[in-house]
Amino acid sequence: MLNLGILISGRGSNMESILKAIKRKKIPINPAIIISNKPDAKGLKIAQKMGIKTEVIESKNFKGSRLDYDKKIISTLEKHGVTPKNGLICLAGFMRIISPEFVKKYKNRIINIHPALLPSFPGLDAQKQAIDNGAKYSGCTVHFVDSGVDTGPIILQLVIKVRNNDTEKTLSKRILAKEHKAYPEAVRLFAENRIKIVGRKTIIS
Ligand code: GRF
Repeated sequence: MLNLGILISGRGSNMESILKAIKRKKIPINPAIIISNKPDAKGLKIAQKMGIKTEVIESKNFKGSRLDYDKKIISTLEKHGVTPKNGLICLAGFMRIISPEFVKKYKNRIINIHPALLPSFPGLDAQKQAIDNGAKYSGCTVHFVDSGVDTGPIILQLVIKVRNNDTEKTLSKRILAKEHKAYPEAVRLFAENRIKIVGRKTIIS
């Protein structure tokens, strides 16, 4: 079976939604390892409570290049069976840019969730960007990771209406509720081998 690795940095609510869905909906994927770059990430405790293995590879005082750091992540993933042949990697609030070498090694096997309707508002503070730019709709996007920032082929998107009185906080909350639906669904589509990548697009069967 396919092995799943999830990379987190904090709260871990998307990770939790994926892990719960795997159990509840019997998604054909084995949640093999959760890796955090921060030792105090709340998501670590959630995963442990659910009986999923965790590892911390601290990035804060890491001495070495981005690639050196990513090599540690890769060897940990491989140790738990998340390989370029048999793995899926979900970035779930992982607050690091990953190296082109990492992306290349796991080509079309790394996915990410972003709290906006890409290609609008990539990068940090996506919800604030939506409000500041007067967007009438926003939402979330699950996409493959390529060497750019939030630029890879889009797998799926869920949309919400931006309200006149929305703040960054209220908008983020409603988007997050959609993220928790979209991310497990994208994992299911991948695990069931239903996503085909054609150029910059995906075709879902
Ligand atoms: C989410 O809003 C996600 O879209 C973004 O970072 C946040 C992570 O939240 N990439 P959580 O750790 O999954 O709760």
